[in-house]
Amino acid sequence: MHAPHGRDDTHDATYDALVIGGGIIGLVTAWRAVQRGLRTAVADPAPGGGAAQVAAGMLAAVTELHYGEQTLLGLNLASARRYPDFVAELEEASGKDVGYRACGTLAVALDADDRAHLRELHALQQRHGLESQWLTGRECRRLEPMLAPGVRGGLRVDGDHQVDPRRLAAALLVACERAGVVFHRDRAERLTLDGDRSTGAELADGTRLAAERTVLAAGSLSGRLAGVPEAVLPPVRPVKGQVLRLSVPGPYAPFLSRTVRAIVRGGHVYLVPRENGELVVGATTEELGWDTTVTAGGVYELLRDAHELVPGITELPLVETRAGLRPGSPDNAPLLGPTALPGLHLATGHYRNGVLLTPITGDVMAEALTGGELPPHARPFSPHRFAAEHPSPPAGRPSAPAPLAPQEQPV
Ligand code: GLY
Repeated sequence: MHAPHGRDDTHDATYDALVIGGGIIGLVTAWRAVQRGLRTAVADPAPGGGAAQVAAGMLAAVTELHYGEQTLLGLNLASARRYPDFVAELEEASGKDVGYRACGTLAVALDADDRAHLRELHALQQRHGLESQWLTGRECRRLEPMLAPGVRGGLRVDGDHQVDPRRLAAALLVACERAGVVFHRDRAERLTLDGDRSTGAELADGTRLAAERTVLAAGSLSGRLAGVPEAVLPPVRPVKGQVLRLSVPGPYAPFLSRTVRAIVRGGHVYLVPRENGELVVGATTEELGWDTTVTAGGVYELLRDAHELVPGITELPLVETRAGLRPGSPDNAPLLGPTALPGLHLATGHYRNGVLLTPITGDVMAEALTGGELPPHARPFSPHRFAAEHPSPPAGRPSAPAPLAPQEQPV
């Protein structure tokens, strides 16, 4: 499978694996691929950026369980179990701390409706044999004294932890560089094809990269790369999330000792306290295309809901407001591994679980890139499950979406 390395007549460089998109999913894929001996490159104008720069980093397999997502639960739990070893290996390889914190999560209810919802979640968790404990409002406040007096009860989930996604991205970037991944700091303009086979990509500056296998890992933009035949174009859409960062001035007793979350008036709100005093408050869920504007309404809703949970937050300095784009898929689960187009793989569509699924995505993709197939536990996440929704274009009709505007480049 190995093409000759270096330049040939038609390409500027040749790789075993070319990853389009240098967010945490693209980087972990490249890191694991290069560790398996594949000559690997990443194409991205700003590797280490993307949705990880906004995400809070909850590793919430149990508290974010939803009806109908049992298969995804298995993958989420498997990835959560890999986190401690993954972090140890990555910190060793990069020399960087990724802010992993085994702090647990408390999901609380503010009124009778929230409480009924949490009770249902608890029952669902129990049916799946997951560890969570029902607490009264008083027990919740004993655990987290900053909680509002009106908290009516909650679920203590000691296995849902957190990591700092910005540090995770920075560490993955260094680990990739140290392991020999080549970075092309430019935007992939189009996938290149030779007959019915993907052969690599052309970058915006005209550089042509040949690759035995190309991995499309461009987050919410994965469905927009020119040259990808419609039949294998991933059905991924952007789902906007606005997130705030506050600062707990130190050195004080921790403001919160664990992630605290709730559903307030139907919307999710969560507060993720870091050891360095950062307090991340998220997140809105908005279907507005590639818009990343921070709105007064988004900030207001987050602060209003977070204030109902933890009134003391209004005393804290607000240091950052930002919006990012989750790569949503039709079933909220990722698309991993080979497509029907030989040579083209996907690692995208992670929606709300990109940070959580980073360790297992790297392992699964490395196996697919070296062995040609997904390991059994990842087969339900093959892109083939959506194939029927994307019939092949009629012969002679090229599939060439409009080039992306600069602000829309893969993250
Ligand atoms: N997993 C948290 C979020 O997507 O907002």
